[in-house]
Amino acid sequence: MTAKPEQDRVLIFDTTLRDGEQSPGATMTHEEKLEIAELLDEMGVDIIEAGFPIASEGDFAAVSEIARRTRNAVICGLARANFKDIDRCWEAVRHARRPRIHTFIGTSPLHRAIPNLDKEQMAERIHETVTHARNLCDDVQWSPMDATRTEHDYLCRVVEIAIRAGATTINIPDTVGYTYPRESANLIRMLRERVPGADEITFATHCHNDLGMATANALAAVEAGARQIECTINGLGERAGNTALEEVVMAMKVRNDILPFRTGIDTTKIINISRRVSTVSGFPVQFNKAIVGKNAFAHESGIHQDGMLKNAETFEIMRPSDIGLKQTNLVMGKHSGRAALRAKLAELGYELADNQLNDVFVRFKALADRKKEVYDDDLIALMKDSAVNTGNDFLQVKFLRVICGTEAPQSADLILSVDGVEHHVTAQGDGPVDATFKAVRMVYPNNARLELYQVHAVTEGTDAQATVSVRLEEEGRIATGQAADTDTVVASAKAYVNALNRLIVRRQKSDPDADIKQVSYKDAG
Ligand code: KIV
Ligand code: ZN
Repeated sequence: MTAKPEQDRVLIFDTTLRDGEQSPGATMTHEEKLEIAELLDEMGVDIIEAGFPIASEGDFAAVSEIARRTRNAVICGLARANFKDIDRCWEAVRHARRPRIHTFIGTSPLHRAIPNLDKEQMAERIHETVTHARNLCDDVQWSPMDATRTEHDYLCRVVEIAIRAGATTINIPDTVGYTYPRESANLIRMLRERVPGADEITFATHCHNDLGMATANALAAVEAGARQIECTINGLGERAGNTALEEVVMAMKVRNDILPFRTGIDTTKIINISRRVSTVSGFPVQFNKAIVGKNAFAHESGIHQDGMLKNAETFEIMRPSDIGLKQTNLVMGKHSGRAALRAKLAELGYELADNQLNDVFVRFKALADRKKEVYDDDLIALMKDSAVNTGNDFLQVKFLRVICGTEAPQSADLILSVDGVEHHVTAQGDGPVDATFKAVRMVYPNNARLELYQVHAVTEGTDAQATVSVRLEEEGRIATGQAADTDTVVASAKAYVNALNRLIVRRQKSDPDADIKQVSYKDAG
């Protein structure tokens, strides 16, 4: 069982791999989940919610593997309020050195109506399921979903039932991001005052960001006595996301004068994990995002720059190095060697094994041949691209030549490899990107709808790399792909193919028997 934290210690419960992965389009592969779990453990997260084991075979396998591998953190799995979910969850987390079962049920009037349970029947269900979970595992977390819209008397009653049945952590979710900081604090205070046994357990706060108040609501709950914050890297999560880990942790560090709490997080690991999560989830971090946005430490105006040169504290309340950002002026180019690249990447937070470095070095040289000066942002884009577009993908762009210009039609000559077999096609379209996407669809026909197509220049200048994001939707499944290249059309082709690869993973996840080669390839080559 997780020991009850000391008065000033706040436990960090990360749910990037569960609530975060529930964001439409944020699919992660099995390997990516293992990697993120390892980074979370290394940075000092107390509890990792690794997934929802009954949701799919893939979730079950990921939670089991993370449970086996993790050295320090408690490994938690999610389960609805029924024995089948709870048993499946236990089967996955039991391999952990410190397992936890997290079971939940919606307690607000709106949520009670869904399983059509009256208050008594729901109370009985909570008693049975928490007792069952506790018979399996010493560490049980219980959540009344939509707690912030549940009648107070009923909330007190069900929390008491869960505590009596053996729950060791009671999580209070603001499922729809509806609450306000004062209200969030009052709710925790009320539960601590009114519920018998409240002193024996840990209260957790789980906030969503629909009104942009998740961080404030979580911190207010802590001030009122919650000692576990549920959060995700980059605030990833359903709809507007969850409380961002980096925000609450840095707020408690920077404003320790008024928030006298500590966490076990090594904050210098924040930027690296933020970038990894952005890459593997396909969710770019907005430039002005607190703590981890590209502009969070950038100073544009003359007055600010002047102040910064005289005394950084004039416009910075924390140092970039606090989150692991190292600022250097060393620009790389085609004469830079392997050692310089390794050192530079380490400064940017990427520690590479020799074989990974070899691969990245080849890509770096190719980039440096096309681009005179390679800046930090170029290298970050290149690292993201190497991570998402690997040599093992089901679909891979092998060759692309596009004819574009004022004379229509524009055409794309493409070699696409499908499961290792190369197919050569030529397609015409309304512009180079349209022609390229059509060529991909000629080789791999699919009904995915293009929901988003976005291009960003990584740095300035006409030789700048472009990062392209593509979001696809197919029968309610959403996948986002990203890629970078100095050629915008090549980046577009790779991003489209990357999104298709992710959609295939999603398809298999929801239907393990799905035939991913459900197409008849038209090989024109
Ligand atoms: O937001 C929510 O209510 C949840 C629960 C499953 C804890 O994510
Ligand atoms: Zn949630």
